[in-house]
Amino acid sequence: MTNSELGHLIAQRIALTGPISLADFMAEAMGHPRLGYYRKATPVGAAGDFTTAPEISQMFGELVGAWLAERWLAMGQPAPVRLVELGPGRGTLMADALRATRGVPGFHAAIDLHLVDTNEPMRAAQRSALQGYTPSWHERFDTVPEGPLLLVANEFFDALPVRQFHRTPRGWVERMVGLDQDGGLRLALAPGVTPFARLLPDADAGAEAEICEAGRALAAAIGARIRQAGGWALIIDYGGETAGRAASLQAVRNHRGTDILERPGETDLSAHVDFRALADAADVSSFGPVDQGSFLQALGILQRGEMLKRRATPQQARAIDAASARLIAPDQMGTLFRVLALGEGKNAPPAGFANDSPSSTLRPDAT
Ligand SMILES: C[S@@+](CC[C@H](N)C(=O)[O-])C[C@H]1O[C@@H](n2cnc3c(N)ncnc32)[C@H](O)[C@@H]1O
Repeated sequence: MTNSELGHLIAQRIALTGPISLADFMAEAMGHPRLGYYRKATPVGAAGDFTTAPEISQMFGELVGAWLAERWLAMGQPAPVRLVELGPGRGTLMADALRATRGVPGFHAAIDLHLVDTNEPMRAAQRSALQGYTPSWHERFDTVPEGPLLLVANEFFDALPVRQFHRTPRGWVERMVGLDQDGGLRLALAPGVTPFARLLPDADAGAEAEICEAGRALAAAIGARIRQAGGWALIIDYGGETAGRAASLQAVRNHRGTDILERPGETDLSAHVDFRALADAADVSSFGPVDQGSFLQALGILQRGEMLKRRATPQQARAIDAASARLIAPDQMGTLFRVLALGEGKNAPPAGFANDSPSSTLRPDAT
């Protein structure tokens, strides 16, 4: 199945050096400097491979903006505050968030805006969506200057490479990408038990598991910044209770599911986010994950929709209702997507996490 230029390059590499992990495959498929999916394509939106919440309705970014501004007030209004978005896509979420918070006294004057994105065409879209602001762009979170932090990441962690494991009667073994007899890419289990076994739960033969090392390392870096200078992070993504304990890696091209090895570099690969692993790695207080539907309703999406409808045509009003339903309905994005907040431990739960206390199971000494 080596039917893309990058697929041929990966097959050549495997022929020379042997099978690679699914995480290495995914890192190449998404991040190859010339041919990687997130280097060249502009995949987000109706014409791309998938649509995201900020592209469905302005209300999503507006409510996230209100959440961030409220956290800034709760932090004691630090200035400057590093407002960071990981993987801002077309810049829609940040543009809506900033427009919605213009009236918060002192907030915009305090903001130092940083966007972490590797994708040049996306950066161009962000530049145009954020005219009037002066963001700095980064390839990685590490280069964002230190200081009080307000971070948001929507559908970012799901794009980070995962390793995948299968439980055999011998123990956990890693699923690798090797070559078939015709030189095409194929999945195969490694012959020996994996050294990652100590990070995996005990399970019956046949069980599957995933580990996202890049996601854990990033969450640890975010947590370190929060401990050092204060701050909050809001992570929104898809991933249920079984994330990490199932094989969730999936491929999407033109809004359709496809084989994960097919046309690397031209296909979106993503895996369910293991929020518990992220919270553990961050090692600060965590709230949630809560369902996106309840989070947005607690933040007032229905009231915001009513306000927008007052100035809308009947057709626009129907579109506003449809967008709300898509974001919050349990059979749409409402429960598939979940929201995790990481932050300073002593605080009361942030908006949207009202019934949550800082997680005691994840970090017993956090409160
Ligand atoms: C699925 S899109 C989400 C876009 C946006 N957050 C939204 O909700 O519409 C993922 C974004 O993360 C960026 N991205 C993916 N992997 C990345 C990585 N390893 N480092 C930096 N940016 C990355 C992509 O270029 C893209 O802008």
